[in-house]
Amino acid sequence: MCKKTASETLKTSDRCKAGSRASASNSRWSQALEPLYWDQRYASSELVWTGDANHTLVAEAEGLLPGYALDLASGEGRNAIWLAEQGWSVRAVDFSSVANEKAIRLAKSRHVDHKVDFETADLRVLAPGLQCYDLVTLVYLQIPQAELNPILVKAASAVAPGGTFLLVAHDSENLEHGFGGPQQAGMLYTAAQVVAALGGELAIEKASRIERPVETKEGIKIAIDCVVRGKRL
Ligand SMILES: C[S@@+](CC[C@H](N)C(=O)[O-])C[C@H]1O[C@@H](n2cnc3c(N)ncnc32)[C@H](O)[C@@H]1O
Repeated sequence: MCKKTASETLKTSDRCKAGSRASASNSRWSQALEPLYWDQRYASSELVWTGDANHTLVAEAEGLLPGYALDLASGEGRNAIWLAEQGWSVRAVDFSSVANEKAIRLAKSRHVDHKVDFETADLRVLAPGLQCYDLVTLVYLQIPQAELNPILVKAASAVAPGGTFLLVAHDSENLEHGFGGPQQAGMLYTAAQVVAALGGELAIEKASRIERPVETKEGIKIAIDCVVRGKRL
C-alpha cells in the first residue's frame, strides 16, 4: 500500500529517548545517528546546506516525467522543493523535526508547499510502501553500512515499475582525496557497496564515482561523491 502521508512520525518521547542515548556518547559518530544531533545542528543557523538542489540530482532527474517522488533524509528540503518545482508531488522524510520546520518554510517561500509533504520519521523504522513511487531519492545519507543497507532495500522496494532510484553520497575516497564530508570512514561508502545492497532488485543504469567542485574561501575544492541510479523494469 502506498502512503503519501506521515506513517511513522516520531513521538516526542521517542525523540527524547534517542536524545538521551546520543548525549551518553561523546562520539560524534554515534551522535550523528540520532535526531537530537541533527535538530541541534539545524537549529544553529538559517540554512546549514544551500537552498539549491544537489547538482547531480538535478542532472539525473531533470529528464524524468514528474510523478510521485519519495525523498529520504530530506534535510532542509532543497532537493524535495526543487522536485516540486519541476511538477513532482513529493513525500520528504527526515527524522529531524527542526529540519522539517525549516523545509516547510522554504517550500512556502518558493510557493510549492502544497506539492511537498514533509514527514518526521526515522528511516530505520519507516515502511515507505511497495512499488509506489516514480522516483526515490537519497542524497547524503551517511550512516554505517549495517544501518544503511536495510534502508536501501526499502528504498528500492518503493520504486514503482518504470520508476527510478537515485542515490548521491560522499564516497569513501573522499576521506583521503576529497573535500569536506564526514571524516569517519564508516560513514562513507561506494557505489559498488550500494549496488550490492540493492541485491539485483533494480536494473542499474549508473554506479560511479564523480567529482563535485565546491566553492570555498580558498577557491574551488573537489569533493568526491558516489552516484547510483537504477530503474525498475
Ligand atoms: C547530510 S544531511 C542531507 C540532507 C539532504 N538530503 C540534502 O542533500 O540537503 C543528512 C540528513 O539525514 C538525516 N538522517 C540521518 N539519519 C536518519 C534516519 N535514521 N532517519 C531519517 N533521517 C535521517 C539527517 O537528519 C539529515 O537531515
